[in-house]
Amino acid sequence: MSVITTSRQGPVLILTSDNPPVNALGAAVRQGLQAGIEEAKGDDSIQAVVIICAGKTFFAGADITEFGKAMAEPSLPVLVDQIEALDKPVIAAVHGTALGGGCEVALASHYRIAVPSAKFGLPEVKLGILPGAGGTQRMPRVAGVEVALEMATKGDPISATQAKDAGLVDRLAGEDSLLADAVAFANEVIGKPVSRSSERPVTVDAETFATFRATNAKRFRGLDAPNTIIDIIEQTAGKPYAEGVQAERIGFMKLIMGQQSAALRHIFFAERKAAKIDGIADDIQLRDIKRVGVIGAGTMGGGISMNFLSAGVPVTIVEMAQDALDRGTGVMRKNYEATAAKGRMTAEQVEKAMGLLKPTLNFDDLAECDLIIEAVYESMDVKKDVFGRLDKIAKPGAILASNTSYLNIDEIAASTSRPQDVVGLHFFSPANVMKLLEIVRGAKTADDVLATAMALSKKIKKVAVIAGVCYGFIGNRMLMPRQVEATKMLLEGATPEQIDKVHVAFGMPMGPFQMADLAGVDIGWHRDPNRIENIRDALAAEGRWGQKKGAGFYDYDEKRQPSNSPRVAELIEEWRGKLNVPSHEITEEEIVVRTLYTMVNEGALILAEGMAQRASDIDVVWVYGYGWPPYRGGPMFWADTEGLKKIVEGLEKYGFEVAPLLREKAEKGEKFNR
Ligand code: 3HC
Repeated sequence: MSVITTSRQGPVLILTSDNPPVNALGAAVRQGLQAGIEEAKGDDSIQAVVIICAGKTFFAGADITEFGKAMAEPSLPVLVDQIEALDKPVIAAVHGTALGGGCEVALASHYRIAVPSAKFGLPEVKLGILPGAGGTQRMPRVAGVEVALEMATKGDPISATQAKDAGLVDRLAGEDSLLADAVAFANEVIGKPVSRSSERPVTVDAETFATFRATNAKRFRGLDAPNTIIDIIEQTAGKPYAEGVQAERIGFMKLIMGQQSAALRHIFFAERKAAKIDGIADDIQLRDIKRVGVIGAGTMGGGISMNFLSAGVPVTIVEMAQDALDRGTGVMRKNYEATAAKGRMTAEQVEKAMGLLKPTLNFDDLAECDLIIEAVYESMDVKKDVFGRLDKIAKPGAILASNTSYLNIDEIAASTSRPQDVVGLHFFSPANVMKLLEIVRGAKTADDVLATAMALSKKIKKVAVIAGVCYGFIGNRMLMPRQVEATKMLLEGATPEQIDKVHVAFGMPMGPFQMADLAGVDIGWHRDPNRIENIRDALAAEGRWGQKKGAGFYDYDEKRQPSNSPRVAELIEEWRGKLNVPSHEITEEEIVVRTLYTMVNEGALILAEGMAQRASDIDVVWVYGYGWPPYRGGPMFWADTEGLKKIVEGLEKYGFEVAPLLREKAEKGEKFNR
C-alpha cells in the first residue's frame, strides 16, 4: 500500500501520509505527494488540496537515513516548488511536529492550519545542516527575518500560537477536528488567487544581522551550520527566490559533506540507539512506577526528585533531620521559581510540581514507593546500611536504585535479599538540568528492572545509557586518565591555563582545571591536613577549594572571573622540586594526546570489557554528561575521524599502554563506529 492515500471531499483532494513513526519525507512519501499534486493539476473537478498526516505527527523532516545516499526523484526542494506552483490552493493541515522538511512543505503550501498543540521548527542546524528545501528563503518571507534567524540557527520549535502570531500559521483548528476544519478552509479559498510565499518580499533592517551575530557569538562559536545560515539569509535577503534557493543548495551541500554534520547525525542516531538494551525484547512487561522515593534532600536528591515531579510523578523524599529536609525542599522550590521567572514554567506548574512532593523524616514512608533512589553520602558502608534497611521495608517488586558515581552496585545489591531489583541510576549534577543518566546493570539486575529504568528515563526527558559495573562506570572512568595526566603535566611544566585553553579551543565548555574549580577541589579529599600527597591535596589543605572559596587552581574575583594564581605557580614549583620531576616544554599536541587520546584508550578498554554496549553509547555519555562538543561526535567518533592509527602512534610516543581493542582496530583499518 502506498504511504500516501488520496481521497475526495467534494472539490477538495485530500493527501494523507501514513509513514510511521514520524512521517519522515522519504522517497515513497515524496513520490506519493508529487503524484497527488499531478492529479490535482490534471483534474478540473479538483479545486483545492489538503495535505495531512496520519499517526502522531505531521512530517517531522526529511528522512535522515537517506542522507549520504543517492536521492530518489523527486528531491524535496523540487517537490516543495511543485506544491507551491500548483494554481489551486494547497492547505497544510498540521498536528504534532512540523519539523525541517515538514515545516518547509507547510511553508510551500499556500495556507497553513494547525491544531493548538502543534509545533513548528527548523531543527536542521542540530544535525549540522541548514533548511534545504526552501526554508532559508520562505521562512523570512512568511515570518520575518528575526523569526527565521532564531528558528533556523537555534533549531528549537515554536508553538502553534507563536507560529500564528508570526504569520506562519493562518488559522488554528480544533484539537480534534483538523481534517474537517482544513477542508472547510479549503472550500473558503477555492477560486481565490493562490498566495505563493516565494513571491513575497523580504523586509530587512540592516542592523538585524550584526545584532544577531553579536548576541549569539558565544553560542555559535566553532559551529559551521548556524554561521552559514546567517550568511545565506543575509546575502540573499534582497534577491529573488530562485537566486536565494541556489545559494541555499550550495550551502546545504557543503554542510552535509562536512565533518560537523556527520558527527551531529551520528549523535542523533547514537542517542536513540542507546535506548536499546542488548538481549532484552522491546515488548518486555515493565514494572509500574506510580510513586518514587528519594533518600537524601541534598543537591543530588533534590535535583533527582525535580525530574519526577516535573513529569507528574509523585515523590516521597526522606531526610534525617527537619532542617536538612526544609533546606532541601526550599532549594527545589527556589529552582522552580527561578525557571518560572524566566517564563519557562507557569506559577501553576510550580505549585503542581511541588504539590506532588511529600517530604518526610520517616524512612518507613518509602514502603509506598515503586522505585526508591538513594542519594546519600558516597561511602560503601553508608550505602550498604541504607539498602539493608530498604530491604526490610520496600514493597515486593519495588526497584531499589543507587545514585552512586563510582561504587560497586553488586556489593550494594548483596546487602539486600533481592539483588535482582537493584540497579544503579547515576544522575549528573545538577540532576534537574543535565540530560545524561547512566543506568548501571548489576550482575543480577533483572531485565524488566533495566527496561523500566530506560522507559522512565524517557519520561523524565533524560538520555540514558546502560553501563556495566566498574569503577566510575563509563563517564567518570574516562575522566580519570584525563585528570591524572593533566595534573602530571602541571609538574612537568604546563600551567592550568595552558591545558584548559586546549580543551576550550577543542570545544569543551571548560578544561580539566576549570572543571575541578567548579566541582570543588576538595571533592574526594580525605580532609586530613597532615596527609598531603599531591598538588590537589595541597590546594585543598590551604582552603583553595575552587570557585566556592574564590580560589582553587585559579584565583577568582567577586564576579567569579578567573586569573592565574601566583600561589598555585609557587605550589607547583614546590611539588616539582619535592618529587624531583624534570620539566620540559609541553606542546598542544602533548596535551591532546595525554588528556584526550588517553580517554579514547580507556573507552576502548570499557568497550572490550563490555562495560558499554557499543562505542556510540560512550559518545552519548560524553556529549550529554560532560559537554563534549556534539559537533565532534563524542570521543570514539572523534577518534575515528582522527584515525585510530594516529591515536595509537600518539599514545605510543608518550609511553602509554595501548588498549588491545584500539590497536586491533587500528591495525585492521577499522573504526569504533561503523
Ligand atoms: N528521519 C528518519 N528517521 C527519523 C527522523 C527523520 N527525520 N526523525 C525521527 N526518526 C526516527 C528515529 O530515529 C526513531 O527511530 P527508532 O525508533 O528506530 O530509534 C523514530 O523515528 C522515533 O523517533 P524518536 O524516538 O525521536 O521519537 P520522539 O517521539 O521522541 O520524537 C521527533 C519525535 C520530535 C520527531 C524526533 O524524532 C525528532 O526530533 N526528529 C528529528 C527531526 C529533524 O531533525 N528533522 C529535520 C530533518 S533534516 C531536514 O528536514 C532537511 C530538510 O531541510 C531538507
